[in-house]
Amino acid sequence: MGALRGAPPTLVGDDDDVTSTPAEPTRIPTATTTPTLEACGVSKSFGSVEALVDVDFEVRPGEVMALVGDNGAGKSTLIKCIAGIYSLDEGEVHFDGHKVSIHGPKDAARLGIEVVYQDLALCDNLDVVQNMYLGREIRDWFRRLREAPMEARTSEALKSLRVTTISSIRQQVASLSGGQRQSVAIGRAVMWNSRVLILDEPTAALGVAQTQQVLELVGRLAEQGLAVVIISHNLHDIFEVADRITVLRLGRSVDVFDRRTTTQQAVVHAITAGIPTKVAGIAMNSE
Ligand SMILES: Nc1ncnc2c1ncn2[C@@H]1O[C@H](COP(=O)(O)OP(=O)(O)OP(=O)(O)O)[C@@H](O)[C@H]1O
Ligand SMILES: [Mg+2]
Repeated sequence: MGALRGAPPTLVGDDDDVTSTPAEPTRIPTATTTPTLEACGVSKSFGSVEALVDVDFEVRPGEVMALVGDNGAGKSTLIKCIAGIYSLDEGEVHFDGHKVSIHGPKDAARLGIEVVYQDLALCDNLDVVQNMYLGREIRDWFRRLREAPMEARTSEALKSLRVTTISSIRQQVASLSGGQRQSVAIGRAVMWNSRVLILDEPTAALGVAQTQQVLELVGRLAEQGLAVVIISHNLHDIFEVADRITVLRLGRSVDVFDRRTTTQQAVVHAITAGIPTKVAGIAMNSE
């Protein structure tokens, strides 16, 4: 553990670490670790729709926190509130234990919060390198783009993600497969000094092998000290990669499970019939 801000995590894993069954996660954040990111009492309405009501959420360094809930439970809205896309109606966001005001994606990026959105938000008409460096291009003294270092870092990042099927990093993103696009989006997020990586449905459109690759990458990033949030409807994926699981239902906090001590049935029950709880802080159901 330990690649924190200022020492960006390398994406390169062991080259021979290609087993399809990830090892039991070695990262077990203790309950005493200050959460990297914490949302407290967040409420957000869109007109008469209460998308979030008094929601608590946290993720600690070196852990994968899953965020689950049925369609419309408020998962994407919570992420967008944390990332500054939406303003909070009520509530606070804390980073490393300090209250922060995040008014837009740039504020979030400055803190090291990177989000890969459900719709990926890649620019179809730009190539892979242009997407990786969108808005953060490397330029020389004359403001000209420095293509060579951008190409080199893009190749390096994708190689470390074991994305070997993209024939050219100068090809337009529109021509990539779903898995390739997801890899580009994750690569773009973790190329910077990320502390928190949030993935909204990263495996929804992927085949078996590409899903496995993304899950292995998620685990490796957490082992390197990142706080990773993964939203997914696929409980199999979640039980494979997550350390803890936060359940939202109808825009409200229902429970936080420790993956090692819970079952898929318990999580499904919380998703479909969980009773909203509101206690001080976040309660671990295993405690
Ligand atoms: N921009 C918006 N304007 C109006 N209502 C919205 C907006 N964004 C979300 N909502 C509403 O807020 C609620 C929560 O939506 P959200 O997208 O956060 O759900 P979700 O948990 O991400 O669902 P899914 O699993 O389908 O992605 C829904 O009722 C949705 O219709
Ligand atoms: Mg969503």
